[in-house]
Amino acid sequence: MKHTFSLVRRTLLVSAVGLIAFASTRLAMAQEAYPNKPITWVVPFAAGGPTDALARHIADRVARELGQPIVIDNSPGAGGTVGAAKVAKAKNDGYTFLVGHMGYMGAAPALYKKLAYDPVKDFDGVFRFPDTPLVLMVRNNHPAKDMAGLIDYAKKNPDKVFISNAGVGSSSHLIAALVASSAGVKVTMVPYKGAGPALIDVIGGQVDGIFDQTNTALPQIKEGKVRPLVVTSKVRLPQLKDVPTLNETVMPGFEASTWYGIYAPKGTPKAAVEKVQNAYLKVMKDKAYTGKMAEQAIQMLPPEQYTGEALSKHTESEVVRWRAVAARSGLSLD
Ligand code: MLT
Repeated sequence: MKHTFSLVRRTLLVSAVGLIAFASTRLAMAQEAYPNKPITWVVPFAAGGPTDALARHIADRVARELGQPIVIDNSPGAGGTVGAAKVAKAKNDGYTFLVGHMGYMGAAPALYKKLAYDPVKDFDGVFRFPDTPLVLMVRNNHPAKDMAGLIDYAKKNPDKVFISNAGVGSSSHLIAALVASSAGVKVTMVPYKGAGPALIDVIGGQVDGIFDQTNTALPQIKEGKVRPLVVTSKVRLPQLKDVPTLNETVMPGFEASTWYGIYAPKGTPKAAVEKVQNAYLKVMKDKAYTGKMAEQAIQMLPPEQYTGEALSKHTESEVVRWRAVAARSGLSLD
């Protein structure tokens, strides 16, 4: 009896080992072939805005490294939180990623009472993009010729300065709200599904102004379609030498940029995450390529800040920081 029992136990043990070996070989094989079909990057804003433009720019080069297309899925709504929730619930198979940023992955928990995801618990950081400062631009026929003029106009016309943004918690909303609160003025926020359509209405004169990232702002300024008043970087941008910073004008010490990153749904296979990370880090070593981003005043970061681990740590600290900012400045959902 005893002999039979140990034989059964041994047989079970051998088959379990066999199963594990088979499974890990399958997994290894799957990962070796990874990616073996197109990958989706969810951009939670309408096409044509800075997030969409930056994502497409980077996706194009990363896709070439990976040998598979990266398809941009624009899923706008609620300042980017709709798209973020979609990825938090997506299959963690290495074929769906979120293009995240400061708003819906940093400030959102402080602004939205019911958020359908946790920026820290529901995602793994994959890599961080370079940061993008913003420019406040007004419609060409607005009476304000500089920032002091706009603040003066807003003080005399409370709620009559219409500032467009990409939804509550978007960078364009956050920065506008912080500047208005610091200047002691009340403006009317006009939300859109992305900064793309929001900027089009500044150019058309339907609204008065917007804070937009430099990669989409600079071409419109260059063509004279809007008037830049200030930039959010600490020092003036080489591309806009005559445009003062908020730091040197109405908000000494102020500096802000939109930070971005690629996130995977929590539990995505490490081998898949590493393959995408390595492709991106290779692209970021290509000076010809990163030089194009610098031309758009996109701020390159020290290489160690590009890793997934650095992005996850940054996300965690940003969620804490924005809670304090929201409490201090009364940032709210409007
Ligand atoms: C924002 O936060 O304002 C976004 O960057 C808007 C966008 O990219 O469309």
